[in-house]
Amino acid sequence: MKAAEGPRDLAYRGPMRIVVLVSGTGSNLQAVIDAVTHGELDVEIAAVGADREGTYGVERSEDAGLETFVVNFNSFPTRAEWDAALTERVASYAPDVVVSSGFMRIVSADFIERFGGRYLNTHPALLPAFPGAHGVRDALAYGVKVTGCTVHWADAGVDTGPIIAQEAVVVEADDTEESLHERIKVAERKLLIDVLRRLAVGEIAAPSSDGGMRTSAF
Ligand code: GAR
Repeated sequence: MKAAEGPRDLAYRGPMRIVVLVSGTGSNLQAVIDAVTHGELDVEIAAVGADREGTYGVERSEDAGLETFVVNFNSFPTRAEWDAALTERVASYAPDVVVSSGFMRIVSADFIERFGGRYLNTHPALLPAFPGAHGVRDALAYGVKVTGCTVHWADAGVDTGPIIAQEAVVVEADDTEESLHERIKVAERKLLIDVLRRLAVGEIAAPSSDGGMRTSAF
C-alpha cells in the first residue's frame, strides 16, 4: 500500500502538532490548553498565532508557556502579503493541523493547500446555516429554536468546507446573543476537543496532500 503523503508524513510518529489561530479571547483555545495540560488530549500545541496585537488569546497562551506570534493584518499593504506572511510563519512550526479558533479572517486557498487541507474551523452555528462573523446573532434574529456549533475542514470560503461534527443547542425564550453564545461555547469546546482527540488517534480522516483522506494517526 502506498504510504500517505503530507508535509509531516516522513517517519514521524508522535503527538499531532497543531498551530491555533485566534482573534479574540480564546476561551475555546483555553479549553484545549487545559485538556492538554490535564493529559486528556494528546496533542502538541506548537504555537498560537493572532492577526492583531493585544488579544487575550495570545496573552493566555503566553501565561501557559506556549510559543506565540502575531501577523498583524493591518501591518500589510495587501491581504495577499498578509496571507503569505501568515502562511510562512505557521509553516515554520510544521503543524499537522492548523486550527482556526475564533480566527476572524479568511485565508487563501494557497494557505490551505500548504497545510494539506488540514485547516480546522469551529463555528457557533449549525452550518451551512448562519455562516460569518455573527452566527449567533443571525440565528437569534432569524428566530430559530435550535442552533449549535460546527467543527469542519475549512476551505477558502466563509465557514464553508466538509463538516466533521456538530452539536445542537436549544434557544431559550429569554436568550440574548451573549447568553446563547456562552451555552454554544460550552458545547463547542467539548466538540473541538473531541474532534482533535479523534483526529490524533486516526478515528477521523484528515485530508492528505494527494487530495484524498487518510485515517492514520499522526
Ligand atoms: C467561537 O464561538 C467561534 O466559533 C467563533 O468565535 C468564537 C471565539 O470564541 N468563530 C466564528 O464566529 C467564526 N466564524 P473564543 O475566542 O472565546 O474562543
